[in-house]
Amino acid sequence: MPSNPLADRPVRTASIIGTGSYTPDRVMTNADLEKLVETSDEWIQSRTGIRERRIAGPEQPTSDLAARAAQSAIENAGISAEEIDLIICATCTPDMFFPNTACFVQTKIGAVNAACFDLSAACSGFLFGVETARQYIASGTYETVLVIGADKLSGIVDWTDRNTCVLFGDGAGAAILRHSPESRGVMASRMGSDGRLAEILYIPGGGSAHPAGGPTSAENPVTMKMNGRETYKHAVTAMVSASQKVLEDAGVSPDEVACFIPHQANLRIIEAIADRLNISMDRFMVNLDRYGNTSAAAVAIALDEAARSGRFQRGDKILMVVFGGGLTWASTVVEW
Ligand code: ACO
Repeated sequence: MPSNPLADRPVRTASIIGTGSYTPDRVMTNADLEKLVETSDEWIQSRTGIRERRIAGPEQPTSDLAARAAQSAIENAGISAEEIDLIICATCTPDMFFPNTACFVQTKIGAVNAACFDLSAACSGFLFGVETARQYIASGTYETVLVIGADKLSGIVDWTDRNTCVLFGDGAGAAILRHSPESRGVMASRMGSDGRLAEILYIPGGGSAHPAGGPTSAENPVTMKMNGRETYKHAVTAMVSASQKVLEDAGVSPDEVACFIPHQANLRIIEAIADRLNISMDRFMVNLDRYGNTSAAAVAIALDEAARSGRFQRGDKILMVVFGGGLTWASTVVEW
């Protein structure tokens, strides 16, 4: 057997050394939505916990939100953009089919030495990106990786469909990962998918199956379709299971976790997860009341806000867990 040249290399840990986030200035409240569709502030708040969301302007593509979040993460990490070896941009609302959105971000932030690609895992994309970054760092391929979760969902929401349009918002969050001898960093990750359930949450048109403007575009619009009840059910089951498994993998008990950062889709989903894990809600980071569901950005923005507001300190354990179209889900335990 030929010897594996990597076999005797020590596995390098990957730590999050900086975070950043950005949401557009324009606030759309539930009262604003009452003017668009038959809904009410009372219905939206009681069913979802959402009070308002941010909406990007026509001049702000996803890469703009992503670049601002990335810039903030670079400053927070105290590095220069030239030090970044790889940019992974998780998004389901890329600026264009190609070039990838990460390439646009690269130019906007001046990360001239980075390789760039996008990652498609809907709302789960940021944690898929964090695990991908960890693998590149562990293998020694790259030193410094920028992971971004960014989405401009306002562009793919059907603003006449009250079942979906009240739920979503625009934004971006980012993290810089690098080996740091002071921390164990990403301790364990789980990723999962179930393609059989693709049609409970998807955008039928616009891709190669049903090109935008093609003959079937009326039945296959380039807007999101969702079976809310099914999505809700699977979101709770998958995120509870992924949380339990990753805690086991990391050898960390729920009591040791300083902060739980779940996907920000619906307060009732988060409460159901807290209930099933038997953890009090005050240990869960929640900001969906202000931003709605920002898809790949949601957990990344929540991570940044939790870190900056002192919800956890260096050495604390945090758990992030996400769920999205695909279906996809992921969970990560990090020593901060
Ligand atoms: N305003 C008023 N009434 C509404 C609205 C609205 N905006 N939307 C739906 N309704 C109505 C429905 O038409 C239905 O009326 P009917 O009984 O006459 O048919 C009624 O409210 C109840 O509908 P339900 O679907 O039972 O409401 P539910 O309590 O399940 O809440 C919701 C709906 C909020 C969508 C919930 O199912 C949910 O959060 N699902 C998960 C959504 C999610 O997480 N999606 C994204 C995850 S992945 C990703 O982030 C891309």
